[in-house]
Amino acid sequence: MNCKHFGSCGSCGLYEIGYEEQLKQKEERVSGLLAPFYQGDLEVFDSPNDHYRARAEFRIWHEGDRCDYAMGKMQRDGVKNKGAINIEECPKVIKPIEKRMWKLLEKINASTAVLKQRLFAVEFLATTTDECLVTMLYHRKLDDIWSAEAKELEAELNCKIMGRSRKQKVILSDEFVTEKLEIDGKTFSYVQYESGFTQPNPTVNVKMIEWAIKQAKTVGGGDFLESYCGLGNFTLPLSHYFDKVLATEISKRSIHAALENCALNSIENITFARLASEEMTEALNGAREFSRLKEIDLESYNFSTVLVDPPRAGLDEGTIELISKIENIIYISCNPETLARDLETLVQTHDVVEAAMFDQFPHTEHVESGVFLQKK
Ligand SMILES: C[S@@+](CC[C@H](N)C(=O)[O-])C[C@H]1O[C@@H](n2cnc3c(N)ncnc32)[C@H](O)[C@@H]1O
Repeated sequence: MNCKHFGSCGSCGLYEIGYEEQLKQKEERVSGLLAPFYQGDLEVFDSPNDHYRARAEFRIWHEGDRCDYAMGKMQRDGVKNKGAINIEECPKVIKPIEKRMWKLLEKINASTAVLKQRLFAVEFLATTTDECLVTMLYHRKLDDIWSAEAKELEAELNCKIMGRSRKQKVILSDEFVTEKLEIDGKTFSYVQYESGFTQPNPTVNVKMIEWAIKQAKTVGGGDFLESYCGLGNFTLPLSHYFDKVLATEISKRSIHAALENCALNSIENITFARLASEEMTEALNGAREFSRLKEIDLESYNFSTVLVDPPRAGLDEGTIELISKIENIIYISCNPETLARDLETLVQTHDVVEAAMFDQFPHTEHVESGVFLQKK
């Protein structure tokens, strides 16, 4: 990928080396961190080099009567460089965003003050099937005149538009998009809400789910436990390989989406529960009762496999202790440092039998990885 803003825009930090070299450096970093626990091959899953991000957020910079997209400036030598630069291209966003974002800016600039006034950011959430949800964020109250102009924009750009300002959310058509992904020969539909977590790179996401399926296929049944399940990204495709599934997640919005996604894909063996991982541990250890779980017979589960996909902080001690009792563990991580920290405990009971790296975030230092552990 080439971008005229490399070196000044803070969003892509790795731009001086080519994509192959970036991958190699990430592979070395992940292999190095996993080396004390795993000496086998690290499978590497690359990303498209450009047009890979299905969500993006731009600030709006006002100069006189004109609006432009802006991004935070690059930090240099660890020194926080305040300020923003105007963005004239962003080749990392997927085509359904790219084809709309410049037309949107043109329309905003050509419009009356209604769309422009105190607009401070625009967010895009798109799908590989060309749906796009645009959220326009304002420092002012939105009224019916705004809704009428934004509605015209929706039609012109063939997208969905939402407006947000303090304590206000204006949904003109929907607050979600529906992604369709081909995973291991099957099609899955996922409703993705504007405010819920979604994996940013759909191509790599599919590779990641298929890698997890490959591990699930070797397990051969039993029940499946998942924590940090989000909108059911892994849960739905993996459910086919297990008898019963219990999947938990802290966010109300994501659990709502997960339930919708389960129905949308006619899957009947999953129970979703809104629980923080710490609460899931308390519930499964019988240490605390939750009214949210009163319809669920926790005793009826016999988990052969658990999948965890925590945020960057990694797993809490209680969750590590709980999953240590389960035969097979699939650990997906967006932070190889906390993964390595958690493996120090997990390898006391389990062996790492497979490891992979998924380049969800090209042109940045971030890297996603996965390990499959089996009880010793
Ligand atoms: C990296 S995302 C993964 C989501 C999902 N597995 C996916 O692939 O889309 C982490 C998820 O953990 C949830 N989360 C954050 N802290 C949590 C906690 N303490 N307990 C349970 N879920 C949590 C977030 O809401 C988010 O959905």
